[in-house]
Amino acid sequence: MIDLQNVTKAYGDLVVLDRFCHIFTSSSFTAIQGPSGSGKTTLLQVIAGLLPIEDGRIIIDDRVTNTRDQALHPALRQLGFVFQFPALWPHLTVRQNILYGLMRQPRTLQEERLEEISASLAIADLLPKRPSELSGGQARRVSLARTLITRPRYLLLDEPLNNLDARLKDQVLAIVADYWHKHQATVIWVTHDPGEVSGLSPAVRTFSPSGLV
Ligand SMILES: Nc1ncnc2c1ncn2[C@@H]1O[C@H](COP(=O)(O)OP(=O)(O)O)[C@@H](O)[C@H]1O
Ligand SMILES: [Mg+2]
Repeated sequence: MIDLQNVTKAYGDLVVLDRFCHIFTSSSFTAIQGPSGSGKTTLLQVIAGLLPIEDGRIIIDDRVTNTRDQALHPALRQLGFVFQFPALWPHLTVRQNILYGLMRQPRTLQEERLEEISASLAIADLLPKRPSELSGGQARRVSLARTLITRPRYLLLDEPLNNLDARLKDQVLAIVADYWHKHQATVIWVTHDPGEVSGLSPAVRTFSPSGLV
């Protein structure tokens, strides 16, 4: 469960979240829609602990993760973030990029997970390549693999289908849906077109600065 209680976030004078309240229940799939500039990315970044908040608090499961004065480190939140503009480490191979989040795990577990995720995302032949050798769609799948391999309990996706062709959109959607079912993850999917996930019957919420309506 992610519980946002009266969360206020501002950039200088621009208040983007104004005593924002919402509960994302465990294992739910929520699609968040709203026009460009309405604060969707800001909301995800606040939940992920990438941005400080001015007021209110956020509780993830039973733990207070954000207040005005403190924030739990993003890496300790068991959440995965698929960014609107995914950036892979250019100096690492695809394989190294994907394994980055499992660096401290035993070798056997790394290999097992890598094999599984490469098969399900059809990226096994890309593993030795560098990010600069990938097409946009391939890079998107690799960035998804890099996030999913850590098995996050919470999956935050920021317009994940942008700039993908129809076939790749279907693929990415199927991968996320599969992950959601298999791991009972809590998924927050930000989009300007909630129709793209309508097949999953998500809870569709429209962004407004004080909460999701
Ligand atoms: N780092 C920042 N500094 C100042 N203003 C920002 C920053 N990031 C976003 N904003 C502003 O906050 C508002 C919400 O942005 P954002 O969360 O990116 O919206 P969305 O993802 O819905 O398009 C916009 O007006 C944007 O210009
Ligand atoms: Mg955005």
